[in-house]
Amino acid sequence: MKIVVIGGSGFIGSRLVRSLRGGGHEVVAASPKSGVNALTGEGLAQAMHGAQVVVDVSNSPTFEDAAVLHFFETSSRNLLAAESAAGVKHHVALSIVGTERNLGSGYFRGKMAQETLIKSSMTPFTILRATQFFEFISSLAGPRVNDEPVRLSPAMMQPVASSDVVVTLAAVVLADPINRIVDLAGPDKFRLADIVAKALAAKGDAREIIADEQAPYYGVLLNDQSLMPGPDAQIGRIGFAEWLSQPTSNTH
Ligand SMILES: NC(=O)c1ccc[n+]([C@@H]2O[C@H](COP(=O)([O-])OP(=O)(O)OC[C@H]3O[C@@H](n4cnc5c(N)ncnc54)[C@H](OP(=O)(O)O)[C@@H]3O)[C@@H](O)[C@H]2O)c1
Repeated sequence: MKIVVIGGSGFIGSRLVRSLRGGGHEVVAASPKSGVNALTGEGLAQAMHGAQVVVDVSNSPTFEDAAVLHFFETSSRNLLAAESAAGVKHHVALSIVGTERNLGSGYFRGKMAQETLIKSSMTPFTILRATQFFEFISSLAGPRVNDEPVRLSPAMMQPVASSDVVVTLAAVVLADPINRIVDLAGPDKFRLADIVAKALAAKGDAREIIADEQAPYYGVLLNDQSLMPGPDAQIGRIGFAEWLSQPTSNTH
């Protein structure tokens, strides 16, 4: 089967490409660096020629509100039009659990626009919504400035190992489209402020974390439902403690 991975050079994309190639599939790792640009349309028709599945794991180079909305709207429109012309049978996209509950954030508005375009297109689809990746948790504390304390929301979250995201995405790619959203989360629930404190401690970062319900998350005030998966979510295999004990956990 020929599969095109848009964002195939990225954090998730490069591992997904490796996994699918390991299964014997013909995989195009598509990104601007390889001459395929979902924003301008450059290289899309050629990359998709003869492809059955397109997986979109691209990401906006900047997270400024207008830029991120422009990125996900324009790239999704271009991808879906090129897929329709090439007769692609399945569009798979990676989105984020709780997107519709966090629209005060420009980034989530961009992901919502992406999902809406996919759902209204003619191409059969599956949207996998993952929770926050373990690799991304320590960055929620922001840059270290004079070891000042960090205020973070104590909202509940259920983050996931990126390796479980890749395994689940690969299974979605090889299955038939289901024309709906599937949630994926890790096996354990945490309070955001607590898990960031654990992630910083594991990196030897001694900053104090203060739990503060008024601390925004990407511009949004969270509650205990904001980031949590639905009751039918698929659950990843690797817990945060196991992930932290892996030698590669602090290299991202
Ligand atoms: N971080 C989380 O916790 C989390 C949770 C759930 C879902 N997600 C979603 O996961 C997805 C992948 O994230 P990631 O961290 O793997 O991304 P990443 O490492 O930042 O990679 C982004 C990829 O997008 C490509 N790209 C940028 N502009 C492009 C364009 N105009 N056309 C085609 N490709 C373009 C980049 O290509 P170049 O290398 O050529 O620039 C790169 O391959 C995102 O959509 C994100 O919303 C993230």
